[in-house]
Amino acid sequence: MKILIVDDSPFIVKQIEGIIESMEMKCDIFVAESGEKAIEMVSQNEFDLVLLDIVLPDINGLEVLKFIRRVKDYGEVFVIVMTSLESDEVLEESFNRGANDFIRKPIKPIELSSRLRAIVRMKNYQYLYKMSLEDLKEKNNQLIELTAKLKQTQDFLVQSEKMSAIGQLAAGVAHEINNPLGFVITNIEVLQKYFDKIVDIVNRYSNIIKILNDPETQISSIRNLINEVEDLERKYKIEFILEDIPQLLKETQEGLQRVSQIVQSLKRFARSGLENKKTFEDLNDIIEETLLIARNELKYDVEVIKEYGENCHAYINRGEIGQVVLNILMNAAQAIKGQQDRTEKGHIYIKTWRDSEYVYCSIKDDGPGIKRIYLSRIFEPFFTTKDVGKGTGLGLSISYDIIVNKHGGSIWAESEEGKGANFIFKIPVNGQMTEENEN
Ligand SMILES: Nc1ncnc2c1ncn2[C@@H]1O[C@H](COP(=O)(O)OP(=O)(O)OP(=O)(O)O)[C@@H](O)[C@H]1O
Ligand SMILES: [Mg+2]
Repeated sequence: MKILIVDDSPFIVKQIEGIIESMEMKCDIFVAESGEKAIEMVSQNEFDLVLLDIVLPDINGLEVLKFIRRVKDYGEVFVIVMTSLESDEVLEESFNRGANDFIRKPIKPIELSSRLRAIVRMKNYQYLYKMSLEDLKEKNNQLIELTAKLKQTQDFLVQSEKMSAIGQLAAGVAHEINNPLGFVITNIEVLQKYFDKIVDIVNRYSNIIKILNDPETQISSIRNLINEVEDLERKYKIEFILEDIPQLLKETQEGLQRVSQIVQSLKRFARSGLENKKTFEDLNDIIEETLLIARNELKYDVEVIKEYGENCHAYINRGEIGQVVLNILMNAAQAIKGQQDRTEKGHIYIKTWRDSEYVYCSIKDDGPGIKRIYLSRIFEPFFTTKDVGKGTGLGLSISYDIIVNKHGGSIWAESEEGKGANFIFKIPVNGQMTEENEN
């Protein structure tokens, strides 16, 4: 502690020094014999305590006090005014100018020492308070930094989990695209052959018309030509071709539409999450789109039974909710496929419905179900019962974040071991005003 004694009487200074020494306090004592010296020292040093005499040879102690308070805060430097003046006015003026305490002269050692002890105690508290405040500020900054990093990592994880889901599905999706693409290509080849035959027949007919247009031509002379075309028509099976073409065109169109739908879904799925937009969407549409992406993963082992409710619209981030549905579907399919002794296909029942506040979706399977001890942990990040390298354990925790934090809804699971699992989530219909959307 740094103490400044401002007094022109060497006797008083000595007395105070003696009292402080007797207290065995750890401190440095400085002395100013005049007001001017006191001002100079205060401006150059950081004192904890100033013992200030009021009556000084040059500048009045009250002026010194005024200066101290101009540069130092009430809590920063403690000022005890020392006075032999009996007048209360001087004391009042001292307090008005920022004195913390006063002591009467002649100084009684017990009075000064008890005040000093109180100040030391207060300074210690002040120091502790300052340290904790700084510590708190530092921790707070670390927390802000950490939260930002966490958010970044989370965004990255969401994106990479989604990419890995797409990666896992890529082979299946490629197959799904390959299938319609295969028959579209075959149909076009067939149509090309049909076209060549039709062109041949049409050319022959126009030749007949040309001949018919010649006034010299005898009808009987073109009989042979007509017979020839009719034979060719039979050979080419033109009747069948004309019936087959609309069918082929319809199939081709459907196949191309299918490819385009899958590509659209994939594109939307991969891009989403980067955009924080919510739009008024039909939950049933999103489920259909997701089923399209997951089709190949499901079709051999699982039968999907759908029961869509009406008007299941809500403010939704399409890609994010698609990801939730995909995670739940994949988990169900994986659980069913994991049942080694299963002989018949598994079932996934998808149901949607709504009430005045929420749209609901339940995805239920008749797989192995979830052990009671795991049920409370499945939404934890990295919780997985799958073999190393098979599952990251992030699917459900990301789904939880999407439904609860990003859409203000709820998600939960109901399951009994051996009796399948049911995942239900609900999303507020008018959830467009969540924080995310306002940003
Ligand atoms: N339909 C279900 N039937 C049985 N168990 C399930 C089902 N859905 C989830 N689980 C359990 O919950 C765990 C956590 O699922 P989550 O989707 O979070 O991670 P994961 O599927 O293991 O890995 P990831 O989704 O990252 O590939 C699973 O490992 C599984 O034990
Ligand atoms: Mg999963």
